[in-house]
Amino acid sequence: MRVMIVGGGGREHALGWKMARSPLVEDIMFVPGNGGAQEIGECVEADMGNDGELTGIAALHGIDLTVIGPEAPLVAGIVDEFNDRGMKVFGPSADAARIEGSKHFAKDLMEKHGIPTGRARLFTSFEDAREYVESTPAPLVVKADGLAAGKGVIIAKDTDAAVEALSECMVKRAFGDSGSRVLVEEYLEGPEVSILSLTDGKGVVHMVPSQDHKRAYDGDEGPNTGGMGAYSPVPLLDGDTEAGIQRSVMEATVEAMAGEGTPCRGVLYGGIMLTGDGPRVLEFNVRFGDPEIQAVLPRLDSDLVPGLLATIDGTISDCEMEWLPEYCVCVVVASGGYPGKYVTGIPITGLRAASSDSNVEVFHAGTRLEDGKLVTAGGRVLNVVALGKDFENARGLAYQAVHMIDFEGMQYRTDIGYSAAGRG
Ligand code: AMP
Ligand code: GLY
Repeated sequence: MRVMIVGGGGREHALGWKMARSPLVEDIMFVPGNGGAQEIGECVEADMGNDGELTGIAALHGIDLTVIGPEAPLVAGIVDEFNDRGMKVFGPSADAARIEGSKHFAKDLMEKHGIPTGRARLFTSFEDAREYVESTPAPLVVKADGLAAGKGVIIAKDTDAAVEALSECMVKRAFGDSGSRVLVEEYLEGPEVSILSLTDGKGVVHMVPSQDHKRAYDGDEGPNTGGMGAYSPVPLLDGDTEAGIQRSVMEATVEAMAGEGTPCRGVLYGGIMLTGDGPRVLEFNVRFGDPEIQAVLPRLDSDLVPGLLATIDGTISDCEMEWLPEYCVCVVVASGGYPGKYVTGIPITGLRAASSDSNVEVFHAGTRLEDGKLVTAGGRVLNVVALGKDFENARGLAYQAVHMIDFEGMQYRTDIGYSAAGRG
């Protein structure tokens, strides 16, 4: 079959890399893809905001299966467009994507169905929200209701910071319309894990857990980012707790959504905090985590494509996934200045040497080819991924590869998977 992957990050390159190994796949096209995806298949530019553009491209190229990577087109209803034209697409309807697109929708669903999460209140007026935070002990977490590219969550250590956060969201509109409605949530503490589960709206198949490193600098210091690295498995998550999350969070949420008449198809991603009082959901997403999936797919021994198709065909319960026992570490190499301002167009060298080990893959995120040369094109530039017999081995291989790569200003964390290595 002919596959089209929508998106241009490391997640989409990794999905393409895995799907290209499937005997079911004839060729793969990316919209828009990146400098690395180009080695797997044709990369086509498109105006994603334009109704009918993606379905038009899929029809023109005789695409049999489209996989949507990022959240924005899902929330905007791209899957409904494909379904209306009778074309196979991996992902949820716009109605189901509200579980990611509206934190209020997600919170309401969880409260109604007893899915464990932090207590929160919704506000549509700045004055009401301010009154509430002034009478509630800090720390508090202020969350813009809508999509905010991972930036709409502000941890306020004291009341002044909470009022400032509310003002940023609701008065200054730092996140546009996403901040017209705001949740104020109780502050929770504990390590976080990401659980990715494939679902056809009824049945669920869980992938192996992973952990993301969200802060920019070593030791979890500095600003939040889209993710500076990830690893899998997660040794601190014991089997019983994992099974509990699978049942009481992931499967319970799939059931709740079906019960509400908005079945969730595709992948459900639970961002879970392991608090002293048990697991609590921080957020749900309806796409693969980036960079989590880059650390999960190399461990998948079976073909991914039947799993993706089963979410569409309603046969996920017949689907099994086999996992390798190896440990995987993914180090994100970013542009100098990320997540703040950075420049692009900087030449990248050393990639061939970096990926020469058979246990190492370099997935591209923000790269593009310019006159045949690879240059930087975004904040997160490369994902260096290694598989090893334990975390130390995987970390050693990944960082050895990172050291072979060079571009001006490149930055990365040196402690990806470090704390896990102590326990793994
Ligand atoms: P979210 O986009 O909701 O996952 O939030 C982004 C990050 O903010 C999470 O990965 C957590 O590190 C942090 N966070 C979100 N909600 C809370 C909370 N209630 N308490 C403490 N930290 C939180
Ligand atoms: N790595 C976090 C996310 O994909 O949302």
